[in-house]
Amino acid sequence: MIEVEGLTKHYGAVAAIEDVTFRMAPGEIVGFLGPNGAGKTTTMRILTGFAPATRGRATVAGYEVHARPLEVKRRVGYLPERVPLYEEMTVAAFLRYVAEVKGVGRGIRRAEVARVMARCGVDEMAGRLIRNLSKGYRQRVGLAQALVANPPVLILDEPTVGLDPRQIIEVRKLIKALAPEHTVLLSTHILPEVAMICERVIIIHQGRIAAEHRVDAAGPSLEDLFLRAVSGDAAA
Ligand SMILES: Nc1ncnc2c1ncn2[C@@H]1O[C@H](COP(=O)(O)OP(=O)(O)O)[C@@H](O)[C@H]1O
Ligand SMILES: [Mg+2]
Repeated sequence: MIEVEGLTKHYGAVAAIEDVTFRMAPGEIVGFLGPNGAGKTTTMRILTGFAPATRGRATVAGYEVHARPLEVKRRVGYLPERVPLYEEMTVAAFLRYVAEVKGVGRGIRRAEVARVMARCGVDEMAGRLIRNLSKGYRQRVGLAQALVANPPVLILDEPTVGLDPRQIIEVRKLIKALAPEHTVLLSTHILPEVAMICERVIIIHQGRIAAEHRVDAAGPSLEDLFLRAVSGDAAA
């Protein structure tokens, strides 16, 4: 469902990511784990068609991102690091607007908005102005906009950042419930988050893939994997 091959992005002299290669099967839920500045957001922006790569290629849901950005955007729900929410709109009005932009037909728009609001637990906030929502609800609205039009692929950039412990638990539960119906790539710098939500982890460090592993009780602990990966001598 996602194929990334030698993806590289330079900002001037800075290599944000270098030769990033990985694959994801349909229905997989993968944690993209790395310290701040590792290159998670850069990779996700390329995968969602929002930024061009310097080198390499990425295919999402069968479409090459650079050649067919619109086809990719139609099949990907993206929760960016900072969700652009319209503060003066109500939750329902905002989601109806997103549905319109995503090409959801007028006749089914209302039903689609009701579906994503129910899925993300924001239906009781439908008539509230976005600017009056708590951080937890804002994040749920962010997830809801990603789910509009039911895209097969979800790319979620640090979905629990800035939430309180209870909100974190709720959002994690919600994301976990979205797989295997969707293929989910979620970035985080929080180890236990990967253990709780994901089937597989891809560790990125200083712009390069440092390790890839299934998350299961039998294998090496995630802590060991992560420490080895970011200690610099693990690439081999
Ligand atoms: N627009 C930009 N201009 C210059 N450097 C950037 C830009 N975006 C990201 N970077 C650099 O690329 C690296 C990776 O950043 P990022 O992808 O945001 O990492 P992460 O999301 O893992 O924290 C960092 O060193 C960051 O400073
Ligand atoms: Mg980031």
